[in-house]
Amino acid sequence: VTDSKTIGIGLLGLGGVGSGVARVLTEKGEQLTATAGAKLVLRRVLVRDLTKERDFPLPANLLTTDLDDVLADPSIDILVEVLGGQTPANEYILRAVSAGKHVVTANKDVMARYGPAILEAAAEQGVQVLYEASVGGGTPIIGPLQRDLAANEIIAVNGIVNGTTNYILTRMAHDGVDFAEALKEAQDLGYAEPDPTNDVEGIDAAYKLAVLASLAFQAPIVDTDVYHEGITSLTARDFLYGRELGYTIKLMAMARRDDHGIEARVHPVLIPVDTMIAKVDGVLNAVEVETDLAGKVLFHGQGAGAMPTTSAILADVITITKGQMERPGTTAVAPTTGETSVKPMADVETKYYIRMNIAERPGVLAQITRVFGDLQISIASVIQKEIDFKALRAEIVIVTNRARESSIQNALQDLAALEVVLEIGTMIRVED
Ligand code: NAP
Ligand code: HSE
Repeated sequence: VTDSKTIGIGLLGLGGVGSGVARVLTEKGEQLTATAGAKLVLRRVLVRDLTKERDFPLPANLLTTDLDDVLADPSIDILVEVLGGQTPANEYILRAVSAGKHVVTANKDVMARYGPAILEAAAEQGVQVLYEASVGGGTPIIGPLQRDLAANEIIAVNGIVNGTTNYILTRMAHDGVDFAEALKEAQDLGYAEPDPTNDVEGIDAAYKLAVLASLAFQAPIVDTDVYHEGITSLTARDFLYGRELGYTIKLMAMARRDDHGIEARVHPVLIPVDTMIAKVDGVLNAVEVETDLAGKVLFHGQGAGAMPTTSAILADVITITKGQMERPGTTAVAPTTGETSVKPMADVETKYYIRMNIAERPGVLAQITRVFGDLQISIASVIQKEIDFKALRAEIVIVTNRARESSIQNALQDLAALEVVLEIGTMIRVED
């Protein structure tokens, strides 16, 4: 740090979150100074376009389009990276670390892929890279995993970490709205991006789970280790049938370590309606951490938005300023101690809900249940939902007992090959 009373901050990016950070640094300066024990001063801001109108306009002399202006400024101690995307943000963070700057980032895309390398570089350089805002927006989850639960062995981290999809699923569950309409609403409300792929395909949640799982299991788990599946094939019928069975559907990010290894997966899940996670609705996020000493701990709150995200970013800035972290670099990832391999999805075991349309005639169910029996999959229930006697077709829902994913995938293939199976609708995993 430059002197004991002032910490210089460089901001990379002046979009929604960057403007929030600039605003709060300016408007809550006195309170932040009192808390941090040093004056936090915004020294330089990297933008792409000097003339663009900003949510929180700043004096022109603070803006630059040249990263070197920020890196070379000796009065800047901490860089706040809020550019988004993997590149060039990952390179900029590494360059900042090499230049001896501490970094605070909200970027899960970067931390999920390059986090282990960045944290290693930071440790070598003796600077900190903190990233509370990268998961859960304003809801603390990284700090608790790094510090407050440090005496625990983490057994599992399960949660809803994508607000956009949780909003869509809530509308589908409570109001019978179909996916396309709920997505359009989410876009109109500014929750979903014009290109919603990262959210609705579970990619954003997989990034966040990689970050959480790395911390929880002290292993360098990256986004490509995390299985992900989105919510686009869910229908209003699945919510209806799920409810009849006592479940709701959530896009869950789930990581677990047991004697057989680490699981890390993101996909829609039928969960019992009376669980706390099932009650997390709208754009809110919630992460439940299962531990050996503290039991289950639930973190719940706003997972996005400029101000909640700014809250997490400035907490990291204050942490660095106060020098509260014990080790140089960060305590976030200890790649040497943990298992690094994540189980293939094919080895995961859970229960399954399968909805399909079948021919309505004698002996059809026997053919279908034989497929499951031949693969040693035990069926928990078969419910015939609708029969169209004219078209001679029926809709059924099968719920299995615990089975291996690879067996279920084989069953789905064998079922699709049966002449009596007209269409396989949806397969949703069930977690009790
Ligand atoms: P945003 O509104 O798109 O802002 C990003 C800003 O960075 C834009 O102003 C963009 O400039 C600028 N930028 C991008 N690449 C640049 C480059 N190479 N040089 C200079 N400027 C560049 O995004 P945001 O919502 O603020 O999100 C920022 C970060 O916070 C992302 O990593 C995001 O995942 C994370 N985050 C956001 C939220 C949230 O609620 N928004 C929550 C948690 C985490 P242009 O305007 O010229 O494109
Ligand atoms: N797109 C994310 C969400 C917010 O919907 O939760 C930023 O992480």
